[in-house]
Amino acid sequence: MAGTSLTLLGPPAATVEGASGPPLGAKPLALLAYLALEPGPQPRERLASLLWGEHQLDGTIDCDVGRFLAAADRDLAAAAAFDVTRFMSGFTIRNAPVFDEWVALKRDELLGRFRGVLGQLTRAAMAKWQWREAIGHANRWLAAEPLSDEAARLLIEALYLAGDRTAALVRFVEFRARLQAEFGAGPSRALGQLVRRIEADPGGRPGRPITDEWYVRVPAFECGLVGRTQELEALQKAWRSVRRGAGRVVLIEGEAGVGKSRLADEFLRWVGAETGTVLRTRGYDAGAGVPYGPVVEALRGALAAPGLSGTDPQWLAEVARLLPELRQLLPGLPEASPPPVAAEAWRLFEAVAQVLLAVAAEQPVALAIDDLQWCDGDSCNLLHFLTRRLEEAPVLWCGMQTLGELRRDAPAARLCRALRVKPRATIVTLAPLSEEELWQMVREMGHVTVPTGGRRLAARLHQVTRGNPFYVIELLKTLFAQDWLMADPESGEWLVAPAAGETGTMSMSPTVHDAIAERIESLPPDLHDLLITIAVAATGCRTGLLSHVHGISRLRAATIADELVERRLLEEENGMYRCAHPVIARVVRDGLTTSRRRELHRAVAGALELLSETEGAPSPPGEIARHAELGGDRALAYRCSLRASDAARQRYAYEEALVWLDLAAATAAPGMETDAVNRLTAEVLSVAGWREAPAPLRRPDGAQRELERQDLDLPGVAGGRA
Ligand SMILES: Nc1ncnc2c1ncn2[C@@H]1O[C@H](COP(=O)(O)OP(=O)(O)OP(=O)(O)O)[C@@H](O)[C@H]1O
Ligand SMILES: [Mg+2]
Repeated sequence: MAGTSLTLLGPPAATVEGASGPPLGAKPLALLAYLALEPGPQPRERLASLLWGEHQLDGTIDCDVGRFLAAADRDLAAAAAFDVTRFMSGFTIRNAPVFDEWVALKRDELLGRFRGVLGQLTRAAMAKWQWREAIGHANRWLAAEPLSDEAARLLIEALYLAGDRTAALVRFVEFRARLQAEFGAGPSRALGQLVRRIEADPGGRPGRPITDEWYVRVPAFECGLVGRTQELEALQKAWRSVRRGAGRVVLIEGEAGVGKSRLADEFLRWVGAETGTVLRTRGYDAGAGVPYGPVVEALRGALAAPGLSGTDPQWLAEVARLLPELRQLLPGLPEASPPPVAAEAWRLFEAVAQVLLAVAAEQPVALAIDDLQWCDGDSCNLLHFLTRRLEEAPVLWCGMQTLGELRRDAPAARLCRALRVKPRATIVTLAPLSEEELWQMVREMGHVTVPTGGRRLAARLHQVTRGNPFYVIELLKTLFAQDWLMADPESGEWLVAPAAGETGTMSMSPTVHDAIAERIESLPPDLHDLLITIAVAATGCRTGLLSHVHGISRLRAATIADELVERRLLEEENGMYRCAHPVIARVVRDGLTTSRRRELHRAVAGALELLSETEGAPSPPGEIARHAELGGDRALAYRCSLRASDAARQRYAYEEALVWLDLAAATAAPGMETDAVNRLTAEVLSVAGWREAPAPLRRPDGAQRELERQDLDLPGVAGGRA
């Protein structure tokens, strides 16, 4: 029997080395299968009842099932390569019910083993954050075990974590229908909770219809997270200690475009799926003039978080100063203490802390602050207070910071220095990607199938960009915009365009700035003009504003802006358009002459003011003031900076109030206006002496730690003190 090879995964077949002749009949095959899988002598009675005769296998048979079983013990990946679901598929023998029974039992046993292998592989890939790998294994696992709740749950989680929220929800609906049909029951609690968390995540921008031909040719430049295994481990470790109840700080640092936000996104998505409350916010390079803007944005995320309503209404009433939406959500809130006097300013800080404490009491919180370097001074003060006040609460403070963008004495630079020395602060410093990693990125984005495809391109890109992923993607976009590359409309595979290189070589832009500038220069004029306005407006534009500034209908403005979104120069969120990246805005602004820029600021200021008055769509007065100043509209700058200063003062943001008064002073007409500003400045200076909150209040829920004698309601020792 030496040299016999037996295939049982799929329609059974046997070949004997050196032997030729007709293939084995069904019974000999069945016997061979049985003997191969049930080693040792087999008594005649058993075989007779199974098939006939008494046999023992001498020599060895190379059987695929045997190879699978051996691999399952030592090499899971190799074991997973077998398709065990096809065991003896399509093979029957007439009048051998005992054999059929054996096949059924054996199939169950093998499938159990196979599911175990895929389960282990899925869990291992999940633990290593290899979502795509996990999806591959979980898909096969679910195919082998269509009613497994765990397989479905891990598949759905991996899809979501890989960024495909829609597919995750679709797979859930399928699974739920399957369970319903089979058992008339719903999915497990754990799966239900996971799906609710996924549903609660609004999930990026809505998909856009494919409109113009350019868009069809240009791919999405998206790929799974490359590298960063160690960094993710460090973040996960910090989160685990937060889950155990301690506050932690992590700072993700690195040069512009190196992938800080991306790493944080991946991590936070995982935190959300792991039952954590994720609050996100960011600093803006062009201050929008909203006092405590970054903190307000984080709190806005807490509106939907479980646990918010556990906050004492008095504190909520204070926080409603920053977040008026709270009053709509909870109409019964008491009025906040009416005149905001400086001595009471700590109440606002404490109130924000109380909201976060209540939310964190429900489940651990990850509070992420992107572009921390751009947070204003008041927000930095408040953030510093909060990190101290919430040291004992399960909150992970996760700040992303671009190195080298800050002056030493900037408030955010100071805040970062203070955060770095927090007990057990974790600093994650991101290096650029290696050439190998960059190649992986290119292969995945370009759906490259040829084994060595894209290697040289990756090497060239690495030379130019030194592995900065933002720069790499911008260069690749330029290659598409300049018709060097195109994507296969069916498979998405990147192809060298027919015209590539016809006009000679292309000098790869020496900086990201140049790569973007080239793409902007080649825009049609109407797109170019609109992009300029949006870049100058900086904090985001609605179509109403664009329509005013450009004298076009809102519909037309939306159409052009959408085209810019499709060209990946803008992004849109809730009807607000802004540049897809601050660097894009900077490049556009740098390309303008001083007088053009001035004229645009003036137009934006005027339009914002007009829209505030006529449409009940008030813009922060600070934003108008800033544009008016840059546009040389002195009177408007003066009026609005006073309003901005007052708004800041109402919220105890004295530093900000002073900054707006500085602007008012610079734009005030001599005489009455100047006197008024000077008086206000003196007032704010005299009330702004306060710096820190007094000793924190006890939590209002009565969770006291001290035990008092009166708490001991037990009988006293006879003869002791009464
Ligand atoms: N490890 C990675 N794998 C795949 N893509 C990545 C990786 N890192 C970054 N990218 C991609 O590179 C681009 C730039 O990354 P990102 O915006 O996270 O950089 P950043 O450091 O936050 O930049 P900035 O300093 O401008 O805030 C994004 O499109 C991102 O998806
Ligand atoms: Mg970023």
